[in-house]
Amino acid sequence: MKIAIIGSGYVGLVTGACLASLGNRVSCVDIDEKKIASLKKGHMPIYEPGLEELVKQCVKDKSLSFTSDLKSAARQAEVIFIAVGTPPRPDGDADLSFVEKVALDIAREITSYKLIVEKSTVPVQTGERVRETIRHHARKGASFDVASNPEFLREGSAVHDFMNPDRIILGVESKKAEAILRDLYKPLKCPIVVTDIKSAEIIKHASNSFLAAKISFINAVANVCEAAKADVEQVAVGMGLDRRIGKEFLYAGIGFGGSCFPKDLAAFIHISEKLGYPFEFLKTVQKINEDQKTLFLKKIEQAIWNVGSKTIGVLGLSFKPNTDDMRHAPSVDIIRELQARGAKIRAYDPHAMPKARQLFKKVEFCKDSYDVCRGSDCLVILTEWNEFKELDLKKIKKLLATPVIVDGRNIYDPKKMKTLGYRYYSIGRP
Ligand code: UGA
Repeated sequence: MKIAIIGSGYVGLVTGACLASLGNRVSCVDIDEKKIASLKKGHMPIYEPGLEELVKQCVKDKSLSFTSDLKSAARQAEVIFIAVGTPPRPDGDADLSFVEKVALDIAREITSYKLIVEKSTVPVQTGERVRETIRHHARKGASFDVASNPEFLREGSAVHDFMNPDRIILGVESKKAEAILRDLYKPLKCPIVVTDIKSAEIIKHASNSFLAAKISFINAVANVCEAAKADVEQVAVGMGLDRRIGKEFLYAGIGFGGSCFPKDLAAFIHISEKLGYPFEFLKTVQKINEDQKTLFLKKIEQAIWNVGSKTIGVLGLSFKPNTDDMRHAPSVDIIRELQARGAKIRAYDPHAMPKARQLFKKVEFCKDSYDVCRGSDCLVILTEWNEFKELDLKKIKKLLATPVIVDGRNIYDPKKMKTLGYRYYSIGRP
């Protein structure tokens, strides 16, 4: 099938490369000419395991190409995916101006039937707007369908998630659109759920909001565990074995971040309110998430007393492991607040340092984890990269000025840390 993907960000690029590898001819489009030039040379704008190899392979066998020429890509494609950004506005609403612009551009190019698929995460009723925009601006009699096909890719395992989905959601309004999308996803073995477009849009927002709620729930439970001297990890295991609850997303920590949960939660709250239902429950989910960072800062103070004039070593900057994404990373607020209180920060992250350098002033970036510890008054863990789990803790103890670790991701065993002579603080564990 000939496919155009408009928007070569994280979602567009992964979707494009994966669909190309499934035997389609895919053209990935982006207005950013620099990005396209660099993609053509095989340079990835993001760190995503397996993506670079896949892109190179597909470019080599000519199933994947990159262009800034939306018009030509749209004219040639049978299916056009809209995968442009939908950034948050200050009030939480999603900014859909890029989606509208792309819909307009596509409308002007339609000469034969096109299936236009929303891949970007958008509030419910966006599909209707896209359809009306295209209908209004396309030539008379132009034939097209609009569909919604939300993505459920996690950064850090996006290629794997695309190839092994739990389910595929097809929000369609015609049998033809359904047949095309079913055919496209035929190689992937998983349940396909066919819905109307609006329900598909809500499935995406509701899924991300539910997962975010699960995280805030376990973080709230962690705070109760701390007060009662119970262990949130044991509680999570006990809860998670109930299949109705499930064990995923019950890891307590410093809260969720990234480009999806915070933005989608805010957008879902906003659209619900606009439709007349104030989604108070989700506002509490947001609040618990914000509070979790404040509580973590208190924990650091509890561990080392005044943070001013102390040196704090930070391991992990990205919002989660296996990505270099710093968007809404809890590390951003935590480091800035520590700096505001006068602390000196030494930090290391396996992949996020180039992006972090652009965000932080005065952070001393170190060459590795051990370098971070040298002379620090306290070590703080903000992202659970695997390499941090394997560190030589005896060596670290010698490097730190005082043997204090405040772990925001529960990566070490409290009993072992005590035996090693650390003062070790973690989340929701005695
Ligand atoms: C999320 C969803 O998991 C994907 O299904 C969805 O497609 C994607 O958003 C999107 O909308 O594009 P992602 O943001 O990449 O994916 O990352 P997650 O693995 O979901 O983690 C999100 C945040 O929650 C991270 O900060 C992570 O550290 C935190 N988290 C996750 C916890 O604190 N505890 C957990 O138990 C799980």
